[in-house]
Order: sequence, then C-alpha cells, then structure tokens
Amino acid sequence: MEYTILGRTGLRVSVAGLGCGGPSRLGLRDGSDAAEHAVGLIKQALDLGVNFFDTAQSYETEPVVGKALRGTARDKFVISTKKTLPPPDHSNPEREVRRGLERSLKQLGLDYVDVYHLHGVEPKDYRFAKERLMPEMRRLKEQGKIRFIGVTEGFVQDPQHEMLQDSLKEDLWDVVMVGFNLLNPSAGNTIFPVTQRKQVGTLNMFAVRRALSQPKRLKELVRELVDQGKIPRAAVNTDEPLDFVRANGNVATVPEAAYRYCRHTPGVDVVLFGTGNPAHLQENIAAISKPALPHAVLRKLTKLFGNLDHLTGN
Ligand SMILES: NC(=O)c1ccc[n+]([C@@H]2O[C@H](COP(=O)([O-])OP(=O)(O)OC[C@H]3O[C@@H](n4cnc5c(N)ncnc54)[C@H](OP(=O)(O)O)[C@@H]3O)[C@@H](O)[C@H]2O)c1
Repeated sequence: MEYTILGRTGLRVSVAGLGCGGPSRLGLRDGSDAAEHAVGLIKQALDLGVNFFDTAQSYETEPVVGKALRGTARDKFVISTKKTLPPPDHSNPEREVRRGLERSLKQLGLDYVDVYHLHGVEPKDYRFAKERLMPEMRRLKEQGKIRFIGVTEGFVQDPQHEMLQDSLKEDLWDVVMVGFNLLNPSAGNTIFPVTQRKQVGTLNMFAVRRALSQPKRLKELVRELVDQGKIPRAAVNTDEPLDFVRANGNVATVPEAAYRYCRHTPGVDVVLFGTGNPAHLQENIAAISKPALPHAVLRKLTKLFGNLDHLTGN
C-alpha cells in the first residue's frame, strides 16, 4: 500500500480508502450475517494496509466500522464521517449537527473523528451550510471532537461541481470529497488545480459505479453518447467501448482501469472504493497500487470522454 499526506491536515493516509457507503454499503443489505461479513471486509482492508475509512450517519455503517476497528490503536486509522444536512427551516440546525456528531462518536466508539463532513451539499444548500452549520462545525473542532472539517458534493445533482467551485473561492474546508471518474473527468480542470494550490485534502468518490462495473450498462451509455453526438460514431467500438484499454493498457478489467485512472490523476489524494465482495476488495487495492495507464490509453480516453461533465458513471 502506498500512503500520502491528505493536504493541509497532514494526516498520513492510504491512497486506497474503504468507502463504507455507496451502492454496496459493505454488503450490509445482504442477509442476516451481513454485519459480521462487513466487519470481516473492514479487517481485510486493514490487513492490506488501508488506514482510511469513510462512513456517514446515513449509511448506517458506523457501528460495524466501530466494531471492526476496536482494539486497533487510534493512530493507526483515519475516520471520515458525515452529517446529513438538516432542512434549512429546522428550528435549531446547530443542535442537530452537534447531536449528529455525538451519535456518530457513540456508534463508532470514538472520542473524536478525524474528518467530519457536511454530506452531499448541493448548490442550493451552500449558503445555509456556510452561514448556519459551519460555525457549529468550527466549535466542535475547537472542542477536539473533530480534527478537520470537510464537505462532500451531491455529485448526482451537481456533476459540474458548482457547489465546490463556489465554496473553494473561500477557505472553508480542510478536506473535500469530489465525484471523479474517466467518464466525467471535469474535476481535473475545475477542482483539483484549486485544491492542490490551497492544500485541501481531496477524496475521490464515484471512481467506479454501474457503467464501469457492468459491461451492459457501459455499452448502453456509450450508445447514448454516440446518439447524442457527444462521441463520434467512428471513434468508438460500441460493442466493447473500452476494448482498447484492455488491449493496450496491460489491464485485466474495466474496474481496474477506472481505479488506476483516478489514482494517478494529480490532485486525487485518496481513491475511495466500496464493495461487499472480499475478492473485489483485494482486486481494487491491487488496481490502486498499480502504475498509471500508458500515455496512449490516457490520450484516447481523453479524446472520448475528456470534455464530458454531465455523467456520474451510474
Ligand atoms: N456524496 C457523498 O458523500 C458520497 C456519495 C457516494 C459515495 N460516497 C463515498 O464514496 C465511497 C465509494 O462510493 P462510490 O459511489 O464510488 O461507489 P462504490 O460504493 O465504490 O461502488 C462500487 C460499485 O462497483 C462494484 N464493484 C466494486 N469493485 C468491483 C470490481 N472489482 N469488479 C466489479 N464490480 C465492482 C460494487 O459492487 P460489489 O459490492 O459487488 O463489489 C459497487 O456496486 C462510498 O462508500 C462513500 O464512502 C460519498
């Protein structure tokens, strides 16, 4: 496992971070022994050198994260968790943030979290988040219950990163979580140059979703792009759109290519991957540990998808 420094936080983090939400939620949806299975996945990740774990109040995976990490020295892992935004007309949103953190700490069995984010802040919520919630986040940081303050974007609603572009003009966040993948690399132009300059720690979500893990969905999506005139028909094999990556990239699978693409993009500190499958967990860590894709493959990916900024990869 390789490690890096998470921007201004100075935290030493694994470049592969275990996402405990996303579509898989550590497999927590699947059956009665799912919690034990999830604990096993987290321990497997720890054994393979992962020290960064991202969870959230809304994922309901904080208890299994807490359980899996019990007994591990506190300085051997970094916990990132998140507060769902109270509605703007909430009578006491500050108290709601405070209570949210207390609940997360209790479920995780910890005295502090390393990074506490406001979760999925859409452009319409940004002012409320900044004016009403940030002061409370700062108080919690002063009290030592949060080491660093973060924000995650609502990538599905905001694939062009409007909220982050706006908020990065100010100096609010120690860490941000950004949607980025080879089908929507727009953060590479609009977000990463700023986070690098301001030393804001940067977490990559959506590296692999449906389109990059399910061949049928990828074909469908690429055909849509061709029909919409967003990719020239002659430029792509619509039956196997990423065949050139496997042929020329020394790459075994599309998810491998997708994770390597993100890992080696300047500005990405931690690539988050989520899974309920121990074999995928191992494969994904191996992929994130491999070298960058060859230049010729990167050039072709840029030619096909480099200007797209509307997809999520779902
Ligand atoms: N706004 C937010 O704050 C926000 C939103 C989304 C995500 N996140 C964070 O980012 C983390 C990552 O989430 P994500 O959205 O990027 O999605 P993800 O949870 O990483 O989902 C990956 C998907 O691809 C599949 N997959 C993974 N590895 C694979 C492999 N090697 N081969 C084939 N299929 C594979 C998984 O299914 P299997 O279970 O079968 O492997 C899953 O369906 C989340 O856990 C969460 O921590 C945050």
